[in-house]
Amino acid sequence: MDAPSAVRKYSEPEYAKPDQQKTNSPYWRAKIDKYLIPETQRLLDEYSNIPLEKQSYHVHKIRDQAWAIRSYPCTGLGMWLDPFLPHSPSYQTILQRLRDGARLIEIGCFLGNDLCRLAFDGAPTDNMYGVDIVNHWDVSFAMYRDRGRFKAQFIQANLLSNLDESPALKELQGTVDIIYVSAVLHQWDWKGQVEAAKRVAAFTRAPSREGCKAMIVGYQVEMLRQRKWSMKRHRYPCGGILQRPLQSSGEQVGAETGTTWKTESRLRSYEEMGWDPADFAWLEPGDMALDFVVTRIR
Ligand SMILES: C[S@@+](CC[C@H](N)C(=O)[O-])C[C@H]1O[C@@H](n2cnc3c(N)ncnc32)[C@H](O)[C@@H]1O
Repeated sequence: MDAPSAVRKYSEPEYAKPDQQKTNSPYWRAKIDKYLIPETQRLLDEYSNIPLEKQSYHVHKIRDQAWAIRSYPCTGLGMWLDPFLPHSPSYQTILQRLRDGARLIEIGCFLGNDLCRLAFDGAPTDNMYGVDIVNHWDVSFAMYRDRGRFKAQFIQANLLSNLDESPALKELQGTVDIIYVSAVLHQWDWKGQVEAAKRVAAFTRAPSREGCKAMIVGYQVEMLRQRKWSMKRHRYPCGGILQRPLQSSGEQVGAETGTTWKTESRLRSYEEMGWDPADFAWLEPGDMALDFVVTRIR
C-alpha cells in the first residue's frame, strides 16, 4: 500500500520532485538527462563553465524555471537540450556568413539555445536577434551564464502583431540575412501559417549583387496522416508554404511579396531528430519533423 503523500519518499532529487501540475501533463518527465547529450555537455562545460557533475542538477533547475513561465512540450520533455541548428545542412554556411557580418533572427527563440551554440562555435552575437512572444531571456542567462558576453538582442513581440505596435520588429524588416524558426510554424492552421510565413519572409534582405541570398532555416513537426484540422498542413507542409505560394502568383504569399524562393527540405523521424519516440505518445503515430532550408532567390 502507498505511504501517505506527506511521508512518501521520492527517489528523484529535490529538483525533480513531481507535483500535481507536472505529473498531470503528458509532456513533462521528472528526468530529462537523456537529452543532455555530449555536445550539450561540452557547451555547458566549455562555454558556460559548468562542470559535468553539476550539469544534470543545473538543467533540471533551469527546466523548471522555464516550465514555470510556459509549459511547452519541448520544455517538459527536455528536447530543448538537443540542438537542431548544428545538424542542419546549412550550419557551416550560417556560421561563415555570421563571421562575415550577416544578421540573424531567431523567431520563437525560447532560451536562444542554438544562438548560444553559434556563439560557442565562433559566431559574433552582436548582429543576432531573438524574438519571442514570451520572455525566457533571464532563464537563458541563468542556463548559459553568458550575461555580458552574449550580445544578441531580445525582442518580446508577437510575430503576427501589427508592426506599428512593434517598432523593433518594424526596423528589422528587409534587413535580415538568416532567419531561424524551429518548432513554431506548426502551431497554426493553413491560413495562420501563410500569414506567419509572410511575416517571416518580410524580414529577409533582397538578394545582393554579390550573390548573398537570405535564408530561412528550421523545422516543424508534420502530421503525415490526414486529420480534420491538419489536412492542409498535410498537403503543403512548411517547405510548401514557403515555396508553393511564393512561386505561384495566384497564391497569397507570392502575390503579396513578389519574391521567389528555393526550398530544400527533408522529412525526418523522431529517432533521426535524436528524440525518444516514447516522448511523443501524446501525438499521432507516424508524425515526423520537416527540416527545411529556404533561400530567397529574388
Ligand atoms: C515550441 S517552442 C520552440 C522554441 C525553440 N524555437 C526551439 O526550437 O526549442 C515555440 C516558441 O515560439 C514562441 N512563439 C509562439 N507563438 C509566437 C508568436 N506569435 N510570436 C513570437 N513567438 C511565438 C513561443 O513562446 C515559444 O518560445
